[in-house]
Amino acid sequence: MKSFKLNNGIDIPAIGFGTWQIPEGEEAYQAVKEALATGYTHIDTAAIYGNEKSVGRAIKDSDIDRNTLFITTKLWNTERGYDKTIAAFEKSLTNLGLDYLDLYLIHWPANETQFEDWAAINADTWKAFEYLYKQGKVRAIGVSNFPKEYLAKLLETATIVPSVNQIEYHPGYLQQDTVDLCKSNGILVQAWSPLGSGRILQDETLIALAAQKATSVGQICIKFALSQGILPLPKSTNPANIKRNLDIGNFELTKEDISTIRELPTMGFSGSDPKKVAF
Ligand code: A2P
Repeated sequence: MKSFKLNNGIDIPAIGFGTWQIPEGEEAYQAVKEALATGYTHIDTAAIYGNEKSVGRAIKDSDIDRNTLFITTKLWNTERGYDKTIAAFEKSLTNLGLDYLDLYLIHWPANETQFEDWAAINADTWKAFEYLYKQGKVRAIGVSNFPKEYLAKLLETATIVPSVNQIEYHPGYLQQDTVDLCKSNGILVQAWSPLGSGRILQDETLIALAAQKATSVGQICIKFALSQGILPLPKSTNPANIKRNLDIGNFELTKEDISTIRELPTMGFSGSDPKKVAF
């Protein structure tokens, strides 16, 4: 498995298995077990997904050396602030049955729609992340859904630059200004919904491109993210998709193919604008 290097020198497997919307219990357990058996070494979950316990159980039952895996979870929005963050982190570790995490992310920034002091809340939460990192409880720390302005604000007070910003990213939704700020600060961008959660799979341009390369639209989306230096986190509960999202094939996207994808009109947006969401 290829990897990216984070800004603190650690390696992160270049494709991760996303678990958003996979229900806790048998479904999450089986999906993660299947993913690990297929060869994924990077699993992405979050406290709010409600499936940390099943993810942890699947990791344990896989009998794979934990130190060869890369496990991410995220702080939910109700737990922002220094003390609550520390407690939420410990709870996630317990749920996962792990004694350290590879990556911990602030799931969504406190935003200007909900909080007058949004910037101070994010700075305070980040302080707790820095503490956890310095304690050695987590190998890397980062954020998620931080648009350019929010990330820039956080960087004003951060003493550790986030290693990652995980954002919605797929053909038809590139958030280029945020990606550019991340790249200029050495922050790796991770793509949630790299397939637009299925909403872009019927796009005619992508279908034609996939046919030309004898591959699928899903694989085109994953290869496209990688071509942009972005780490995709495809989610699936279907064993065939789980497999092909990892073994994306040997086809190449040419410069022209990439331009064609980059120029697609806006499509497949989830509707969750981090500056406006009410959660
Ligand atoms: P399924 O779980 O049945 O595979 P995203 O990762 O962008 O959130 O997309 C996830 C959605 O896309 C799920 O509905 C998933 O369904 C579907 N999906 C995942 N991988 C593929 C693929 N390779 N081809 C088609 N659909 C896929």
